[in-house]
Amino acid sequence: MKQIPMLINGEWVGNETNEWLPVFNPSNGQQIAEIVRGNKEHVNAAVAAAQVAYERDEWKKVKPFERGQLLINLANHIRENAEQWSKLECEDVGKPISQARADVEAAARYFEFYGGAADKVMGDTIPIEEGILNATVLEPLGVTVHIIPWNYPLQIISRSVAAAIATGNAVIVKSAEDTPLTAHALSEWFAASNLPKGIFQHVTGIGPDVGGPLASHPNIQHVTFTGSLKTGVSVMKAAAENVVPVTLELGGKSPNIVFADANEERALEGVVRAIIQNAGQTCSAGSRLLIEEGYKEEFLSKLTTKFNELTIGPGSEDYDIGPILNKRQYDQIMKKIEVAKSDGKIISGGEAITIDGYEGGFYIQPTIIDGLEHGHSLAQEEIFGPVLTVFPFKDVEEAIRLANSTDYGLVAGIWTQNIDVAHYAASKVKSGQVFINNYGAAGGIQMPFGGYKKSGIGREKGFVALRNYTQIKNIAVKFSI
Ligand code: NAI
Ligand code: MG
Repeated sequence: MKQIPMLINGEWVGNETNEWLPVFNPSNGQQIAEIVRGNKEHVNAAVAAAQVAYERDEWKKVKPFERGQLLINLANHIRENAEQWSKLECEDVGKPISQARADVEAAARYFEFYGGAADKVMGDTIPIEEGILNATVLEPLGVTVHIIPWNYPLQIISRSVAAAIATGNAVIVKSAEDTPLTAHALSEWFAASNLPKGIFQHVTGIGPDVGGPLASHPNIQHVTFTGSLKTGVSVMKAAAENVVPVTLELGGKSPNIVFADANEERALEGVVRAIIQNAGQTCSAGSRLLIEEGYKEEFLSKLTTKFNELTIGPGSEDYDIGPILNKRQYDQIMKKIEVAKSDGKIISGGEAITIDGYEGGFYIQPTIIDGLEHGHSLAQEEIFGPVLTVFPFKDVEEAIRLANSTDYGLVAGIWTQNIDVAHYAASKVKSGQVFINNYGAAGGIQMPFGGYKKSGIGREKGFVALRNYTQIKNIAVKFSI
């Protein structure tokens, strides 16, 4: 069995406790590797190493453009070996290989983008008065912690780690217990690079054992977390004890708002892709369809046809929909589908399926639920599977009211040919990203991403995310002769 060690202070740290956790391929349920069950001592060692590495000249004297070059080298390495990286991610997460390939290219783009930005992180000069030169300098924070979920591990590690290293921090990655493979591959690359030891570290294990002690550690300066609302709140509370800032990305219940005048083919395709990507295990999934009342039946009948044409199977064979991560995730999705069967109406899918030769994988049909009250928990909470809930609206005001009536506010899609309606709705929707006549804009890594309301705090991606990993020092110089 492939054993995956942690990377702490430039050393591969293995099983001195002899406790390992299995890692499975979701497509067939077979074990593919095992990771170290990390603990608080590992966390303390990693934080101590990061503190030392961060302060040493070996890192401090690396010029910003040199940090950038290192990241760009990594981007090139990822591109040159894209197929190997894609296979790792496909095997680890279960996602269709073409989606894994897109994730790998996104990861390369993050390292390239933030690598290019490393020497362009600039402060301001601010006019005060004659005889005073006032300038701001953006300094790194120090030790930054990156707690990663299992749904897009490589992309999510890359987006925050690239920005944090570009700005001169020391990073500690805590990968999700289910999906450590690409985090480990990055560790191998960093360990072999000329990055000083302790600047990139990787710890593994169960959330409360490792992520908890990291978030509450007094000697860290920032936590970036993507995952569930509940865990995000606990991370924020832990960090609050030490007045450590957090960047949180906590999911959503994102609406696709379809008006009767929408370009039908584009809207259908957009609504389908927004909910089936990564089998719906996506923070920004378009999991609520809000549809104009008079158009509802027609649109739903065409949507159902599209859903019925979708293919399901193992990630390596690149069907439209891959497996669900594990039994726990599968059980919680199926439980919600069962609730929908009694409280609403299933108009497509609704069943688990078995794939010949892949009986150990957990597969669920793409499912459309109609007939729920909008206040129902299935309309309010993440299902995190290929499950779409549908609600009609009378007019644009009702569409906006429904769109905004969950605790979340990550993404919204608006589908209409009417430019006034499109912009009016975009201005009223409470979400961090709004897409008009598309959903996701191909995932552009340049676009700020993050949530209103309980979808999170702060923004990742784009230039703006560099600010997460810097602090402002204002320096005023008084001069006279
Ligand atoms: P989770 O939020 O518990 O796990 C995310 C990461 O946090 C993992 O690395 C985990 O090890 C770590 N973690 C767990 N407990 C921790 C703690 N007490 N302190 C610090 N770190 C901790 O999410 P989980 O259990 O994997 O998935 C449950 C649900 O969360 C999903 O069904 C979905 O609704 C949501 N989720 C949302 C994601 C998003 O993209 N926003 C990603 C993954 C899950
Ligand atoms: Mg796995």
